[in-house]
Amino acid sequence: MLTIEALTRRFGRNTAVDSVSLSVDRPAMIGIIGRSGAGKSTLLRMMNRLTDATSGQIVFEGRDVTALKGAGKRAWQSQCAMIFQQFNLVPRMDVVSNVLHGTLNRRPVLATMFNLYPDADIHRAIGILDRLGIAEHAPKRAEALSGGQQQRVAIARALMQDPRIILADEPIASLDPMNAQIVMDALRRIHEEDGRTVIANLHTLDTARRYCDRVVGMLHGRVVFDGTPEQLTTGVARDIYGADASFTEDSTSTAIETLDRGTVRALREAEAAV
Ligand SMILES: Nc1ncnc2c1ncn2[C@@H]1O[C@H](COP(=O)(O)OP(=O)(O)OP(=O)(O)O)[C@@H](O)[C@H]1O
Ligand SMILES: [Mg+2]
Repeated sequence: MLTIEALTRRFGRNTAVDSVSLSVDRPAMIGIIGRSGAGKSTLLRMMNRLTDATSGQIVFEGRDVTALKGAGKRAWQSQCAMIFQQFNLVPRMDVVSNVLHGTLNRRPVLATMFNLYPDADIHRAIGILDRLGIAEHAPKRAEALSGGQQQRVAIARALMQDPRIILADEPIASLDPMNAQIVMDALRRIHEEDGRTVIANLHTLDTARRYCDRVVGMLHGRVVFDGTPEQLTTGVARDIYGADASFTEDSTSTAIETLDRGTVRALREAEAAV
């Protein structure tokens, strides 16, 4: 179905993703884990063609999508919808219009500018919101919703494209534990009931273990683990997260913090600014 071959992305002298190869043979729910800067977001963004690869290939159902441009690229981006940590909704626009934006890639520009949507699309949008348990919020402004509700709106917008693959870049990193669970449950259900593939960057090992059939561990741009949650032992986790990770041995609540992500990020930004 989806094959990634030796995919590489360099930023200057820094290799963010280093010859990554992965293959997905049938619909799956895959978690990508790794410490800050491991290359998780860059990998997802290359899959969706938000970021161009320096070299390597992405092949979906026999078709090379790596070099698609224009309409072909937009069609591919509909096939592999992306959701983000910060939801990326239009805050002042109502929920249902945000969801209808998911049809943007296949609509005339003028119709979009004037917010003209076919009734069938509006019904479908409401149906998707209902499935995600938030139909009652359809007329509200997106900014009036809680984080967990907003992320479900973003999922609804993605579903509006009827994608084969949903790429989620840390979908629950900004949410409290209860909302995180609601959002992960929704993604799991979309995978199981619709047969869509979900590939999610996750910042806790525990979530990857609980929700995913397959876990991919990245370190310094490379895949250092690719297996089932059962194969992901504490020793393997230690290799993925490196020495500055803290662990508990209890497998039901393996708490791995990539130590102080805020600090790491700030350091990276400071480095980049020099
Ligand atoms: N647009 C960019 N320009 C320059 N360097 C970049 C850019 N995007 C990412 N990088 C670098 O590529 C590497 C991988 O970054 P990436 O964001 O993919 O990591 P990540 O695993 O998603 O990290 P995090 O867990 O913090 O989100 C880092 O060294 C980062 O600084
Ligand atoms: Mg990231």
